[in-house]
Amino acid sequence: MKTGNRYFVRAWTAVMFGSATALAFGVPLHLVQGALRIGMFLDIAVTVMLVADVVVRWGGSRSFTARNWRWLFVDVVAAVPFGILFGPTPLELLRLMKLARVMSVMALWWRQNTPRWNTFRLLYSGYWIALVVHWLACGWMALRAIPSESLAGQNTYLRALYWCVTTLTSVGYGDITPQTEVETIYAIIVMAIGVGMFGYVIGNIAHILANLHPSRARYVETMERLNAFMEYRGLPSSLQDRVRGYYGYRWEKRLGFDESEILGGLPPSLLADVSLYLKKDVIEKVPFFKGAGEDLVREIALAMRPVIYMPGDYIFRSGEKGQEMFFIGRGEVEVLSRDGRSVQATLHDGEFFGEIALVLGHPRTASVRAIGFCDLYALDKETFDRIVARNPEFAAHIDAMVRERFGSPG
Ligand code: CMP
Repeated sequence: MKTGNRYFVRAWTAVMFGSATALAFGVPLHLVQGALRIGMFLDIAVTVMLVADVVVRWGGSRSFTARNWRWLFVDVVAAVPFGILFGPTPLELLRLMKLARVMSVMALWWRQNTPRWNTFRLLYSGYWIALVVHWLACGWMALRAIPSESLAGQNTYLRALYWCVTTLTSVGYGDITPQTEVETIYAIIVMAIGVGMFGYVIGNIAHILANLHPSRARYVETMERLNAFMEYRGLPSSLQDRVRGYYGYRWEKRLGFDESEILGGLPPSLLADVSLYLKKDVIEKVPFFKGAGEDLVREIALAMRPVIYMPGDYIFRSGEKGQEMFFIGRGEVEVLSRDGRSVQATLHDGEFFGEIALVLGHPRTASVRAIGFCDLYALDKETFDRIVARNPEFAAHIDAMVRERFGSPG
């Protein structure tokens, strides 16, 4: 469709869905029951819509591929009111091809535009089941062209629907039974379809329910596997508690998601936007970032890797080689003296540490330990050096901090 107006496309898709559904229900009924009073008006309205669809969709097209020709054929055939022109004729069934076309467009649209894929699947299954039941009921009516005496005067469609539902659901009261060989064969086919449909519906619903909370399901599974593993390897219970504590915290704060894994597939500019948003807590807290240029903040945000530390964990120890510096997103850490006996400083949300080793190339001047659960963001040396080389402001800010904490950086 040429127009770029999303709302129009959406509304038009809905109109086409309505038209295709009217055909899907109306055409078989027309074939088995002959003219219906409302059928004629509905047929005219649907035909007008489908002709409009051909004009809107294909009006501006100049070049056609084989696939286009095929779809054009479907659209044009669906727009021909065979029923009005020739009365009930099997040719009308050709119009049902439009349904497949509309449904495939809708499924694609839904998958791409809404997070509620499961809801769609549920509705989609219900829709198809209703259609199949209707078609089978129409088939039964076609076989019972002359209603038996016991049904005289009753609404034959309703009776056929009733027979169909009882047979499909294997309730089978037996009050309407096949009387000819063809009817018996038809009944067998309907029963077989019923079994398949049940399997499909139950399988689908179980799958949808299991996927209603995919992150929780994943968390529970991870914990079960972990517990089994730790039990099997005989980990001490205190260590087991810490492992469980880590996953519990990660679940609480991020629904157990590993951000880098989830964001891995995004293109660079979108990745930068999402990273900025996800790290906005730390970016808002670090005073330096407030005055820094947007490009710099973007670059740092993209490079920062989220890490979680548990209460009492050493982030690094004095004398180690420094490969990264850390920003504190949430939590508290303590900087310990070289001998580890006294606390030199306590750092909070928005502060950073580990910069001295990167700037001076010294081993770590102190050990740093998490006091409670800590959400930190690590910036590796390579990125740090690149950013420092390109951003005199950032370099000056870091130098000032090194001077304050360590003395002269030179
Ligand atoms: P680095 O030497 O790489 O590793 C230990 C870190 O502790 C150090 O960088 C600083 O970021 C931090 N640090 C050292 N001394 C102090 C201090 N007196 N106050 C705050 N932070 C400090």
